[in-house]
Parts: sequence; structure tokens; C-alpha cells
Amino acid sequence: MLRIFLTVSVLFWNQLAAQDAVAEGLGLCEKDDCLTPAVIIEDKNYLEVQFKERRRIETDVDAVDIKSALAIGLDKLFSYARCGNVAGTIVPLSAPWGVFGYVKNGEIQQRFRVFLEIVPQVTNPPEPTDPTVEIVTAPPVWYYGRGFNKKVDEQQTEELVIQFLKDLEQDNQPFNSTFFDIAYFDTQGLMAMGFMKTEE
Ligand SMILES: *[C@@H]1O[C@H](CO)[C@@H](O)[C@H](O)[C@H]1NC(C)=O
Repeated sequence: MLRIFLTVSVLFWNQLAAQDAVAEGLGLCEKDDCLTPAVIIEDKNYLEVQFKERRRIETDVDAVDIKSALAIGLDKLFSYARCGNVAGTIVPLSAPWGVFGYVKNGEIQQRFRVFLEIVPQVTNPPEPTDPTVEIVTAPPVWYYGRGFNKKVDEQQTEELVIQFLKDLEQDNQPFNSTFFDIAYFDTQGLMAMGFMKTEE
């Protein structure tokens, strides 16, 4: 894990900029090359955020928990960025990185989809050579989001996800409770978690 995080620090020098731009506890970045919220509406202790279209690389990982999913998945995604692509070139990436996770009967499942943002300036990213790595163009979407700015361990992270799910259910919010997303903006615990809104 340490090796991966050191690599992250080198690749994501602009994460320092991201750190300054934490929007009300939700780790959102206002730089052009970061994930940008189009709209933020404060709502109780979470936010409604609209994300613009953006491009990521993603890979599916079976793993016991989020931490091991990230270790396995990010390794593959960094390989893509470091010449593991048909152009044999370096592809510049940006924070955040993270996972999509799946919830069933109130339990986080042991499969994840690990992702990393590609900087928007790269208009035509080369195809991965690893068939398990995919380039995904994510459509504009609304999320309920909650931000954190302290280091939490695996168990606490999972508890925070389930707590957020319960809070949204209690508030009768229209959201898809089958999956969540956790985005990390630095290695010091700046993170946001979200559930997708299902209606406007
Ligand atoms: C929730 O998300 C899952 C996975 O993307 C999808 O298959 C399902 O149709 C969604 N459900 C609703 C109610 O939007």
C-alpha cells in the first residue's frame, strides 16, 4: 500500500490544489483538471452534487474489502498510465481515485470497481493493453455526497457507508441503494462518499 501511495503522490502533484478546494467537507476540486461539481445544494448533513461528464479508467476487482480492492486495482490502473496502453505512452491522471462498491441486504459485497480520473486535456486516451482495464465516459449525474477529512480505517469506512445509506433511507431520498462510490483526494483522509440520485 505504501508503494502505491508514494506513486500516487508523484503522479498527483496537483492533489495539493485539490486539498485547498474542499467544498464544505465534501472533497471537491475546482481546478479544471479535477472532478468538478456543477451545483452544490446543502441538505442536512450531506450534499446534492451534480458532476459533469468526465472520463475515467476503471477495473473490476474481487477483494475482501475496499483497501485491498484499491491495492489491486490501482496497480493495474497505474500500469495503464505508465505505458500499458496501445500508444506505449504516459497518460496523465488526476485525483480523485476510488471505488464503486455494491450493497446487498445492508452488507458491502466483496467486489468493487476501482477508478482513476483521466485529466480532461487528454481528449483521446489510448486503449489499455490489459483487457480488464476500461476507459469509461461517465455521463453527467447527481449524487448525494458526504465528505470526510480525517483518516479512517477500513471498518470505520464501511460503517460510514452504511450509516449514510440509512440516513438517506430515513429521509426518503430517491437514491440507488445498490451501489456507492468513495472518492479519495489525498492520502491524508480527504474523501467523499456518494450514492446516486435516481430522480431530479
Ligand atoms: C441501481 O443501480 C444498478 C447498478 O447500476 C442498476 O442495475 C439498477 O437498475 C439501479 N436501480 C435503480 C432503481 O435505478
